[in-house]
Amino acid sequence: MSETRELAELAKRRGFFFPSNEAYGGTAGFYTYGPEGAALKRNLEDVWRDLFVRELDNVELEAPTIMPEAVFEASGHLDGFDDMIVECAECGATHRADHLVEDAVPDIEDAETLGPERVGELIAEHGIVCPACDADLADEPVEEFNLMFGTNIGPGSAARGYLRPETAQGIFVEFPRLKEYARNRLPFGVAQIGRAYRNEISPRRALVRVREFTQAELEHFIDPESDEPPIDRVADVELPLYAAPAQHDDDGTTETHTVRDALNEGIIGNDWVAYYLGCAIDFYERIGIDMDRFRYRQHLAGERAHYAADCWDAETELGGNWIEVTGFAYRSDYDLSKHGEYADESFTIFRQYDEPKTTERAIVDPDMSYLGPEFGGDAAAIAKEIEALAGRDRSAFEGETVDIELDGDTYSIPVEKTDFAVEEQTEAGEHITPHVVEPSFGVDRLVYSVLIHAHESDTVDDEDRAFLDLPAEMAPTTVAVVPLMAKDGLDERAQSIAEELRAAGYEVAYDDTGNIGRRYRRQDEVGTPYCVTVDYETQQDGTVTVRERDSTEQTRVGADDLAAVIRRLVDGDSLSDL
Ligand code: GAP
Repeated sequence: MSETRELAELAKRRGFFFPSNEAYGGTAGFYTYGPEGAALKRNLEDVWRDLFVRELDNVELEAPTIMPEAVFEASGHLDGFDDMIVECAECGATHRADHLVEDAVPDIEDAETLGPERVGELIAEHGIVCPACDADLADEPVEEFNLMFGTNIGPGSAARGYLRPETAQGIFVEFPRLKEYARNRLPFGVAQIGRAYRNEISPRRALVRVREFTQAELEHFIDPESDEPPIDRVADVELPLYAAPAQHDDDGTTETHTVRDALNEGIIGNDWVAYYLGCAIDFYERIGIDMDRFRYRQHLAGERAHYAADCWDAETELGGNWIEVTGFAYRSDYDLSKHGEYADESFTIFRQYDEPKTTERAIVDPDMSYLGPEFGGDAAAIAKEIEALAGRDRSAFEGETVDIELDGDTYSIPVEKTDFAVEEQTEAGEHITPHVVEPSFGVDRLVYSVLIHAHESDTVDDEDRAFLDLPAEMAPTTVAVVPLMAKDGLDERAQSIAEELRAAGYEVAYDDTGNIGRRYRRQDEVGTPYCVTVDYETQQDGTVTVRERDSTEQTRVGADDLAAVIRRLVDGDSLSDL
């Protein structure tokens, strides 16, 4: 069985995740996290918060998931957030046209960049058929399909709204308030973990392409002229980079460079993007991504989103396919400029000069009592052009008359009738539109990657064993307490130990059913890193057995020291260190 199928089976059986609404026939593209999966996802989000909010000193907000149409007109999603769709005339099934081409034509990896017309041609040239019914798709039109879920806000259909396709917009639209919260000083970062919705044409690969998913996004607002990332913090971090030129080479491969070298050698063009690629390595390691199955891939020119000036993706290898789990984009001033254009409030910030700047400004006040009688109906246009010329070319006012060109005619105006003067003005600063650097993490794809990468098997006591080698801080359960027998007071002692550990803040399971080996296997299978066994010796000397999941080694420790022992183990000690 492939690793993805094995995982899907485990996920369903042990309550990590499963297709939603199966009692009603299921709904493609929606998954429910069961108790183990919900806990794992929560732990992953906690690690993300710990790094990207607390450690990097950013703030977090929570915005609504439904937003009015005007937001998406401004953001470009209404016009540009499309995928290519082809519908089978025979069975009515709809498919991602670019994916059909990628699956059928070996040389094409990113058909999205080719456009609907060319994709339609390729479907015909390669005789691509409907995956559902095998009907020929050659004559079917390939069209753009907007991925946003629409809705109405309030009764009636006057106020059109959409479920947000990215959490980012909930941050951008609040920039006027957020800048005040940041006391009008750049740089500052605002994070959000929340749901996003995309009406994917062909949801697939379990949690990889779903219609409702969770994003963890950070929008870092910077002054592009003066703000630099604290690059020393990550300068020596090693990045596995699959750069654009390597993707064009037939034998191009991933190369490892430090953040510093990648910047010096121009492999990564933007220092903020490089900074976040460096910061994120710690995150991927902490959540348990297998770093031998991980890379950063640079976007090719035609692949970038409508807003992105420079972009790298973090990708994990799952079942032989590389899957994007995070996008790192330099979004420039695209979003704030657009919202500034469409909305009523200011999306700029005041940049204070180090020293106030004094500049000269040409001003005019054309004498209409002269221009009116002299030029009749043309007077107003001439006055307007005098003002424009003063702004463009002060030297035009140096003689006795100034020549104004209007609709092919030249009008000579005495300079004294323009009231031309040069004025000095002192300014403390200027209004600028901040730029945005955005690491955008797909939480569900990360949960899926962590599970697949953690899924291991070995042989213990001549028996095959499957286990999840999850990092302790990610495991849904930290400790399972198991009495050797559910009798003779062992069960009561085990229950009270479990309660003590819960009071100390650990996620604890209690299990007294089945033989002890089977109970260990059950915990191994869901990734519980430690099992504590209460046996008859516990009653004599107050010690319990602590068993480590990966090595299956065991050691005895005093039950009174258990909470402290578990803390040491979670923090990285092994049993032999105790
Ligand atoms: N704000 C930027 C943005 O939304 P994106 O690359 O479209 O960028 C970011 O999405 C991340 O969200 C992706 O790297 C991926 O992990 C996740 N994602 C996107 N579409 C998804 C889907 N249909 N199902 C699951 N995760 C998805």
